[in-house]
Amino acid sequence: MRIAIVGSGYVGLVAGACFADLGHDVILVDNDEQKIAMLKSGQVPIHENLLPELLTRHRGLRLTFSDNLHQAVRASAVIFVAVGTPPTDHGDADLSYVESVAREISGAIDGYKVIVEKSTVPVYTSEWVRKIILRNGADPESFDVASNPEFLREGTAVTDFLFPDRIVIGCDTERSAQVLRQVYAPLADGSYYQRSDAIPQPDRASIPPAIIVTSTKSAELIKHASNAFLAMKISFINAVASVCESVGADVNQVVHGVGTDSRIGRRFLNPGIGYGGSCFPKDVMAFRSVARECGYDFRLLDEVMRINEDQRQRFLRKVQSALWTLRGKRLGVLGLAFKGGTDDIRESPALFLVRSLLQAGSEVAAYDPAAMERTQEVISSGITFASSPYEAAHGADALLILTEWEEFANLDLDRLRQELKYPIVIDGRNLYDPEAMAAQGFTYYSVGRAASHPDGVPAAVLNNALKKGKKA
Ligand code: UGA
Repeated sequence: MRIAIVGSGYVGLVAGACFADLGHDVILVDNDEQKIAMLKSGQVPIHENLLPELLTRHRGLRLTFSDNLHQAVRASAVIFVAVGTPPTDHGDADLSYVESVAREISGAIDGYKVIVEKSTVPVYTSEWVRKIILRNGADPESFDVASNPEFLREGTAVTDFLFPDRIVIGCDTERSAQVLRQVYAPLADGSYYQRSDAIPQPDRASIPPAIIVTSTKSAELIKHASNAFLAMKISFINAVASVCESVGADVNQVVHGVGTDSRIGRRFLNPGIGYGGSCFPKDVMAFRSVARECGYDFRLLDEVMRINEDQRQRFLRKVQSALWTLRGKRLGVLGLAFKGGTDDIRESPALFLVRSLLQAGSEVAAYDPAAMERTQEVISSGITFASSPYEAAHGADALLILTEWEEFANLDLDRLRQELKYPIVIDGRNLYDPEAMAAQGFTYYSVGRAASHPDGVPAAVLNNALKKGKKA
């Protein structure tokens, strides 16, 4: 099929590359000429596993780039709108980019087109898009508006797209539903998965995915409700972790016991320093706001947000209680992005913590496998960037683990202990076992579990400290 995608951000770029891999002809449109030039020249603007491979495979062949929306609409049967919907000052989604794209599409329609919302948008957006297109002169028979929300996560975006649990097709006419079924046919009929050059199936993926056909309004709500529910799951377990800390229970054991109930599920029950990123914080707020406008006071979501804010503050207090004063302390920090596996620092709880520590007068030596360049653009003083976790730990009063890169879960603990000035690790992602850390000579703090201390001072640590003339 001939597909246009408007917006070459995270969702648009991944969707474009994946649709091309399914065998469709895709034009990716963006009004940012520089970005288009960059994509044409082979650069990949985001850190995303498997995306460079797919772009190389299809660039200039089944995937082309353009800044001409009019031509792209004319050349395509389906137009996916994947432009940004950033939050306004009031917390609702700013739909002005969606509106201006709808206006432009209207002027280009020259035969039946299906216009599909791919960005996360509030319920009723499809009705507005339809109104705008009609207002600008399009024939009502010449188009349908559909909603096809995307559930991909950054870091695993390509496999999430090609091996989804479900594909939600929100359509109000059978004609448009047919078109979208055709777009996803290679996944729904399993033919993509038979191909020898298909992207390898990740663990846990069940193929083929379920196709769920709904009304457009239901599809819009499915997206907001899914993200809000996942955010709620995270806040819930973070609240449980706080109770665990008060009573001396172990949140990991609680998660195992709770998550093994198949009605609840183990996934997205990892306690930490709170959720961040470009989706959950914005979407929970937008869903709260749209529910209010529609006459429902969704106060549960206020609590989800409050717990999330509190979680960062609790971690900060934990650092303080481990180190007493923060002024003049040197802290090694592992992880700057909003989670592991990405270079995205938008709404990153790790960055919030780094800023707070700098404000409190600490010096930070940070390491992140992907996000240091982006961090450098927004924080310039008080922070240095290391080339490895060990360099970040070198001479530090403590090491803070703020994201869950696999590399951070497999550190050489002997080496780490030797690098640190004091063997203190404050882990915001529960990557290590408290007892094992104590046995290795660390004082170890994590989330929802009691702090562990080495029993006495192991000789190796003492020797090492004496050699360096430091306190163990
Ligand atoms: C999220 C959803 O998971 C996707 O399904 C959705 O498509 C996407 O938003 C979107 O709306 O575009 P993403 O923001 O990439 O994906 O990241 P997640 O993996 O969901 O993580 C979000 C935040 O929650 C991160 O800060 C992460 O560290 C945190 N998290 C996640 C936890 O603290 N605990 C968990 O158990 C899981």
